Amino acid sequence: MSGSAVTPWVVGNWKMNPMQAEAKELVSGLKELLKNNPIKEEDCYLGVAPTMLALSAIQADFSSATRVIYTVAQNVSIIEGTGAYTGEVSAQLLQDQQIKFVLIGHSERREIFSENTPILNQKVKHALAADLTVIYCVGESLQQRENGQAEQVVLQQICDIASVVQAEQWQKIVIAYEPIWAIGTGKTASPEDAQAMHAKIREGLTQITPFGAQIAILYGGSVKPENAVELAACPDINGALVGGASLNAESFYKIAQAFAHTK
Ligand code: 13P
Repeated sequence: MSGSAVTPWVVGNWKMNPMQAEAKELVSGLKELLKNNPIKEEDCYLGVAPTMLALSAIQADFSSATRVIYTVAQNVSIIEGTGAYTGEVSAQLLQDQQIKFVLIGHSERREIFSENTPILNQKVKHALAADLTVIYCVGESLQQRENGQAEQVVLQQICDIASVVQAEQWQKIVIAYEPIWAIGTGKTASPEDAQAMHAKIREGLTQITPFGAQIAILYGGSVKPENAVELAACPDINGALVGGASLNAESFYKIAQAFAHTK
């Protein structure tokens, strides 16, 4: 089933970047580009995920933009509500700051911070309970791909959250397929390989939920203006989760343009 009717999303994951002054420049550069050459909201949703520290400031900076640019949290606590949990930020605290989106399951969180299925499920559950939209990241390692396990690993990661996502809540899920070997390496999955995996994900989603055909499936892993057009042309690639290239206003804008043109 083709997912081409799905409105694309282009989200910049700034990771542990940049310093304050550069962030200000990045936001004003992006606002300027969008003002001079608008990308319609209905053609492409846009979001950026700054550090937790900068979330509210960036959100305030974007409030004067000529179109909506969502502010996305890169992480959320496994604990809900408020309380004596030093260093944590819960889904309710994000909601209280009008943050409506959160990344969960990024391979850097899975690998560096040992976030396993039970932890990720708690995060997904609490985020959805606080009415956040979850951008849930999945992806295989190079070894898993070479062993022919890529599809199985990715579909299992999606099935993992099925126990905590209630029927209607699938409408608040966006999937980001990020093959680990393509993140920050300059290597991108070929459009054919990426499309093949996205089609499998789409198939898996339609078996899990009646909303399966409407769920946006983003690709992430060395997305740049140079490869965005080809990726955007794939029917089941409904946008991009962009790391490195999102730290440059023009690159990010060009990637957004590539996906908006598919509409
Ligand atoms: P790069 O675009 O830098 O490869 O990062 C991808 C990513 O991890 C986005 O979440």
